[in-house]
Amino acid sequence: MQINVNGQDYSIDAPADMPLLWALRDLVGLTGTKYGCGMALCGACTVHVDGQPMRSCVMPVSAVTGKKITTIEGVGASPLGKKVQDAWVAEDVPQCGYCQSGQIMSAVALLAEKPQPTDGDIDTAMSGNLCRCGTYNRIRKAIHRAAGG
Ligand code: FES
Ligand code: FES
Repeated sequence: MQINVNGQDYSIDAPADMPLLWALRDLVGLTGTKYGCGMALCGACTVHVDGQPMRSCVMPVSAVTGKKITTIEGVGASPLGKKVQDAWVAEDVPQCGYCQSGQIMSAVALLAEKPQPTDGDIDTAMSGNLCRCGTYNRIRKAIHRAAGG
């Protein structure tokens, strides 16, 4: 089947029920998106499908043919994605870093929807992205920074 990732078409040989995360990492070779729980519980595998944040560990790859997938490797190509990544660097957000691609993908989706989010908006939008290192306060600061606050 054919999938479009970060603006590029890829022909992949995969069973229809293969999780998108597997296809991205093992067939396309983009390993920035991480495997955490495999059960849509942690957010480490978050990518955008037509701009919406989705858990790629539970999304069959056959469900995204004809859609535009964006991963952490491509999100910085948009001005908003770049702004969020720059804010993450400025606030020195990551600790071990494992959860952070998912965090950034969720943050970009939030800011695309709500350019000036409140703390409550941030907590709601980011509640599905877990961080074992507890970087939540810096994530919140980085989101406010990216929003221009
Ligand atoms: S790996 Fe997908 S939500 Fe945890
Ligand atoms: S930075 Fe380590 S899990 Fe989030």
